[in-house]
Amino acid sequence: MSETASTPVQLTRKPHKPKSVPAPGAGKTACIRTFGCQMNVHDSDRMRRMILDAGYAEVPRYEDADLVILNTCYVRENAVDRVRGHLGELTRLRREGRLKKVALAGCIGAAEESETLRRQFGIDLVLGTHNTYELAEFVGLPTMEETYTPELPGTEGDHSSFVTIMTGCNYQCSYCIVPTVRGRMVCRSKESILGEVDRLVAGGTGYVTLLGQTVDAWRQDGERFCDLLEAVSERAPRVWFTTSHPSNMEDRTLRAIGERDTIVERLHLPVQSGSDRMLKVMHRGYKAERYRRKIEIFRESAPEGTLSTDIIVGHPGETEGDHEETLRLVEDCAFDSAYVFKFSPRDGTEAATLGEPVAPEVAQRRFVEVLRAVEGNALSRNRRKVGGVEEVYVRHGANEDGRAVGETWTGHAVHLRTDASPGEYVRARIDSAGPHALYGSVLPDGTG
Ligand code: SAH
Ligand code: SF4
Ligand code: F3S
Repeated sequence: MSETASTPVQLTRKPHKPKSVPAPGAGKTACIRTFGCQMNVHDSDRMRRMILDAGYAEVPRYEDADLVILNTCYVRENAVDRVRGHLGELTRLRREGRLKKVALAGCIGAAEESETLRRQFGIDLVLGTHNTYELAEFVGLPTMEETYTPELPGTEGDHSSFVTIMTGCNYQCSYCIVPTVRGRMVCRSKESILGEVDRLVAGGTGYVTLLGQTVDAWRQDGERFCDLLEAVSERAPRVWFTTSHPSNMEDRTLRAIGERDTIVERLHLPVQSGSDRMLKVMHRGYKAERYRRKIEIFRESAPEGTLSTDIIVGHPGETEGDHEETLRLVEDCAFDSAYVFKFSPRDGTEAATLGEPVAPEVAQRRFVEVLRAVEGNALSRNRRKVGGVEEVYVRHGANEDGRAVGETWTGHAVHLRTDASPGEYVRARIDSAGPHALYGSVLPDGTG
């Protein structure tokens, strides 16, 4: 799942405006900054609705805000370092009298470390992932206990929307803090998901992404993820899902990706390691061979499709032999892209207590080797697309340089010059390729 600081998105409902009583936050301003994965993007939207309901105006800069809300990620130490940097800046602004209150929310908020940060930086409010509703009271609204559930409407960008189908995670991967800060899996009902998809599509959404930490673990009354995906693919014009766990990934889901016209042929399936020994230490629940078989089915189903993964190097106990197995798997699966991470010990996880840490310089070398192997594969796969003509969905409209970013039906990112708005399709010829994207030009008759 991508981890970026993100910009605001519109909400599904307009903020509630009381008729006569002035809103408690009238005249005040708030700034929300989101770190981490799409789960946090979704939670930020809930919090945004609370502050707008309370009458606050949203502002993009810290120095213009009465209240700053940092929605944070705890998955690796560098995620926490980033937040510390922002808290330092906020402390300075507060000393200068340019800022009033700071709230720390999200996954750091759900971890014990938040108490240390609260004292160190004089944070006014700490919210975990299960009590975001307390923000409502903080900004002067009646308590909104409903935010406790994953049943709330998701976000509605103009053209592309995330729909959360499950929250939490039932796995206990040795290295991972997510189950601790997000809790156990809760699946949202099919009825509620499809209701939201219908509403979004009727409102103009052309691209629906189903979200969760292990979306393919979704189940309800004997129905499984593939049943839900098929139902959504019949309602929405363009569909994707992330992120999946290899142990839950069914062959029929992989086949549906190729068979269904509305599903983008793009699969993100984190493998973490190519060594069976490490996969066992990590409690991943599958062997490398099973993962390879899944990939074979995906490649058969969608030969032109894109495949991405997550890989951790330097997990305690990882030997040179384990690392070579990972390099071999990278070669065999020919990933189109991968997020490669150096192991980061998290307090409260099993791996943080395991001995045999891998020396930092060894982890760094392994990191570079895996990254190079992935990029080499990706570049040669991308080059095969050069000269072809693709239908491209515009994701981000042109920037100041006139360059827009789009996506093919095979999930390739394409940079191109066009005035088309986000959500529109253009026909483009692919002129060149890099390891991370294709570069194209719109055909003369290519808009619409
Ligand atoms: N639920 C997702 C992963 C969420 S975290 C899944 O199972 O696929 C995103 C990625 O961060 C993980 O896939 C893993 O590669 C990486 N990660 C998680 N904890 C980590 C840690 N302690 N150190 C380094 N990387 C980690
Ligand atoms: Fe973390 Fe594993 Fe759950 Fe993914 S499946 S969120 S890596 S515990
Ligand atoms: Fe996501 Fe980071 Fe939390 S990856 S679930 S925001 S720890």
